[in-house]
Amino acid sequence: MRQQSERWALVTGASKGIGAAIAKRLAREGLNIFGIYRTDKTGAAQVEKAIQSYGRKAKLFQADITSDAQLDKVFDQIKKTTPTLHVLVNNVGIYDEREAPFAIEVFEHNFQVNFLAQIKVAKRAVPLMPKGSSIVFISSIAGFIGSGMPETIAYSAMKAALNSYMKNLARALAPKIRVNAVAPGRTLTPMWGDLDKAEKRYWIKDVPLKKWVTPEEVADAVWFLIENTAVCGEILTVDAGLMLKGEY
Ligand SMILES: NC(=O)c1ccc[n+]([C@@H]2O[C@H](COP(=O)([O-])OP(=O)(O)OC[C@H]3O[C@@H](n4cnc5c(N)ncnc54)[C@H](OP(=O)(O)O)[C@@H]3O)[C@@H](O)[C@H]2O)c1
Repeated sequence: MRQQSERWALVTGASKGIGAAIAKRLAREGLNIFGIYRTDKTGAAQVEKAIQSYGRKAKLFQADITSDAQLDKVFDQIKKTTPTLHVLVNNVGIYDEREAPFAIEVFEHNFQVNFLAQIKVAKRAVPLMPKGSSIVFISSIAGFIGSGMPETIAYSAMKAALNSYMKNLARALAPKIRVNAVAPGRTLTPMWGDLDKAEKRYWIKDVPLKKWVTPEEVADAVWFLIENTAVCGEILTVDAGLMLKGEY
């Protein structure tokens, strides 16, 4: 492991689920962590404590990433702490589907959070990122063309847009900053709500490996993309084989 003690990462959506696992994993690898979350103060405090238990610094900011004003405040705080960010993990994502396939307000909500806000965060982070830095987007297997279900049409469209944006951003920022994405499959997080045992079994029945992806397995993939200096513009699928079916 390289000496990372003066290095900072920013992880969005760090109060729970995949973002919390990524924040803890990066801290274990020696990075100090900034996080952004929207509402869950208890989760954020637990994640900060875990990061500190690895001997790293942690500061999780409560902010809505769709708000320019709130993001500006977060980045003012970041710049007071450090002049450089070595890693950005754009992890925030919401699942909002109602009255598919033509609910315009649902598409607008998905567009604001799952797509445009990701660019707002990257726009502010990139000027702080020195040569050798890394950006990882958390996409979804729903973003592969023809993969998303009709019931997840707005979410799928925005993740597909994110994949396209990620690849073009990787070309734009190379060779200074590498940009990649992880596309998780069904990952057991609070995004799924409170599933009972039968529901948990139901959702892995058609998964080739008959298992849920864990948030830690997604975090492993994020760390691989950060560490491997030859990978650029890649979408790394972590889905227990679900894409082998050609749909999900
Ligand atoms: N879980 C899956 O099966 C799965 C599969 C494929 C891809 N993904 C992707 O993985 C990523 C993480 O998903 P997850 O399952 O870990 O979700 P999650 O458990 O619902 O956690 C979402 C996180 O994002 C934060 N957040 C949501 N909206 C925000 C906003 N407007 N501003 C700031 N923070 C916001 C939440 O903050 P608070 O809770 O504090 O409000 C929370 O920390 C998403 O991009 C998702 O699309 C998930």
